[in-house]
Amino acid sequence: MSTHAEDDVIAAVSADAASSAALAAPNADRAVANRTRTFDTPRLRKDFAAQGAFLYLEDFLASEVTAQLIHSARALLDEVNRNYLPGHKQGGSVSRHTIDRLAPFIAELYRSKELIGWLEQLSGDKLQVSPVDDPHAYALYYYTRPGDHIGWHYDTSYYDGRRYTLLLGVIDDSSCRLDYELHTRNPDVPDRPGSVQIPPGGLVFFDGDKLRHRVTPAGANEMRVSLTFEYVTDPNMRPWRRFISNMKDAIAYFGFRQVFRQLAARGKDRA
Ligand SMILES: [Fe+2]
Repeated sequence: MSTHAEDDVIAAVSADAASSAALAAPNADRAVANRTRTFDTPRLRKDFAAQGAFLYLEDFLASEVTAQLIHSARALLDEVNRNYLPGHKQGGSVSRHTIDRLAPFIAELYRSKELIGWLEQLSGDKLQVSPVDDPHAYALYYYTRPGDHIGWHYDTSYYDGRRYTLLLGVIDDSSCRLDYELHTRNPDVPDRPGSVQIPPGGLVFFDGDKLRHRVTPAGANEMRVSLTFEYVTDPNMRPWRRFISNMKDAIAYFGFRQVFRQLAARGKDRA
């Protein structure tokens, strides 16, 4: 007969075994292909174009991928860099450099040929991953305190080519909404406002220079985490634009230490 203490240990061990079995990292390419082959991609491509380079899908990721992302988002809570820009944004983020160290599955998903190939079909553009020193290439964004939000903005491309954003819902125990306006840069089409609440596994894909968007403020005891991937059509960046981009990242997102430590490391590699 076992004691209560032994029962607790047995319960803890089996719960642990169950959770690690459930969280064995999936194969990113296979998981993406299993989903995308069920979609009517030519239809989605038309939708993307008709909406001025914007698409929302409520149910995109395979459930094992969503589970893996939720696990990583919770595991990285201690790594979150908090930022506050009065009147514009308040929230937390974890950059690619931390993800590379602690959640390599996310980096694998970002580079998935199946994922990139499908996004190329949607956009009609040849897509490339962002350069290694771009902290936005893949990043987690946390809305965990009351008032966390980001005001109206575009995901402006500082690159010579276009910059696409893929936003994946990870955790949404919140009232936050992604509000957006389509066609704002197209004088021939009236602006069209919209708003979505992105559930875990949901997708938003858009051309960063075309979609005006914001995330509305979180309430008390709410939590929202999204994962964004950035792809570019030309990874070159002129030096003065790089300077502006680095300053913006340091102030608004990831902190000076993280952004400039990476740049210093890169300088040393080159020396
Ligand atoms: Fe954005």
